Amino acid sequence: MANFIIQGGQKLKGEIRIMGSKNAALALICAAVLTKEKCYLKNVPAIEDVKVLIKLLSKIGVKINWSKKDELIIWAKEIKTTKLDPALTHRLRASILLMGALLARQKKMQMIHPGGCFIGQRPVGTHFEALRELGAKITQDEKNYYAEAKKLRGAAIYLDEQSVTATENALLAAVLAEGSTIIKNAASERHIVNLAKFLNLMGADITGAGTNTIKIGGKKNLHGANIAVVDDENEVGTFIALSLATKSNLKLVGHSFAEMEPILHRAQKMGAEFKIKKEGKKSILSIHAPKEIKPTRIQASPWPGFPTDLHPPFAVAATQARGESLVHDWMFERRLFYVDELTKMGARIVICDPHRALISGPTKLFGTNIISPDIRAGMALVIAGLVASGQTEIGNIELIERGYYKIEERLNKIGAKIKRIE
Ligand code: EPU
Repeated sequence: MANFIIQGGQKLKGEIRIMGSKNAALALICAAVLTKEKCYLKNVPAIEDVKVLIKLLSKIGVKINWSKKDELIIWAKEIKTTKLDPALTHRLRASILLMGALLARQKKMQMIHPGGCFIGQRPVGTHFEALRELGAKITQDEKNYYAEAKKLRGAAIYLDEQSVTATENALLAAVLAEGSTIIKNAASERHIVNLAKFLNLMGADITGAGTNTIKIGGKKNLHGANIAVVDDENEVGTFIALSLATKSNLKLVGHSFAEMEPILHRAQKMGAEFKIKKEGKKSILSIHAPKEIKPTRIQASPWPGFPTDLHPPFAVAATQARGESLVHDWMFERRLFYVDELTKMGARIVICDPHRALISGPTKLFGTNIISPDIRAGMALVIAGLVASGQTEIGNIELIERGYYKIEERLNKIGAKIKRIE
């Protein structure tokens, strides 16, 4: 187990490069399993979740290698087994995406319940319903889920909820089904658009990604393709929250900040000002943090609402706002666990129920020993440690590293004092 030791209260200044999106990369890697030809992905973050997925795919016979530090070559010429390794499956929520992909490619697969962050029940019923509509038979025993299909056929699917990975699973299966599929109440996150673009480059026929109705014309085969992973909106939001919480002006360097309104809008309500400048292929988002942050209502909902993954870092920024802010996340019932850690640091937060918390600010935060409960909350606690006076020690930081690439090095470059110790 590794820890971060943070000396808080430093003024931060400078540029941070935005990495490729974790959740987009995980879906694109699974999509490459749909073809026997080679696929090439750029802007892939070399974070733990991606490394685990690479191991999981290698175990079923997919050849998958880094060609550069952020580029992957994936060659699923042969699938040797359709049984997913349980230990690796347990480490990753995105392993569920291999259900749609392997059903489409091999017509069967077997896996245990997928792992991932301990942030709520995270049911997979919506995935199963969608895949059953496409003709799959899914059963389970004490240990495994078993999915098989003689043939996948296009269908009209109404998703029970706008689940991101269920939408992705339905897409992965429907592209190789016979006939047309329509997915209504689909999720519209940026990574779904990235996935649909990649599938289309592979020869699929998908329209409507990015809206709540997606249409798919099934194809017999797909071929190899290459695409870049979109920039991670969770990184963008995290560093905006960092800028607000520490009252530091930061510059984010990425490929495009064009579709970040759900995040920028909330930060503007808290007093942040933004400028976007193009420099060749790069785009630079300059964040001007206000002297006094305004309180706000941080309400998570499916895109283009405010992302649930960003409510924890914004909650930390809200501890520095003058007045009362409300956090409301109806999507996950265990996402507020980090509040206990924040109150140990001096934050004034009342948990109203498992989905709502009332934050009063501004409060002085003090360094102490805390534990990271999941990727996003862990990163929020890093921000709290950077705001706090004195030393903060955060345990369980492997969880943070599942989603954020070399975060201590990147933050130290802009003036933070973070040490990683084993
Ligand atoms: N939900 C609803 N109604 C909806 C949408 C979702 O009730 O309209 C509930 C679901 O039942 C579930 C929760 O909200 O309990 C999240 O739903 P979803 O199925 O969309 O989550 P997911 O697909 O399993 C992905 C990301 C998560 C991210 C969520 C929400 C991947 C691999 N994971 O999970 O990412 O929090 O979407 O945006 O894509 C993370 O990166 O830290 C992370 C947890």
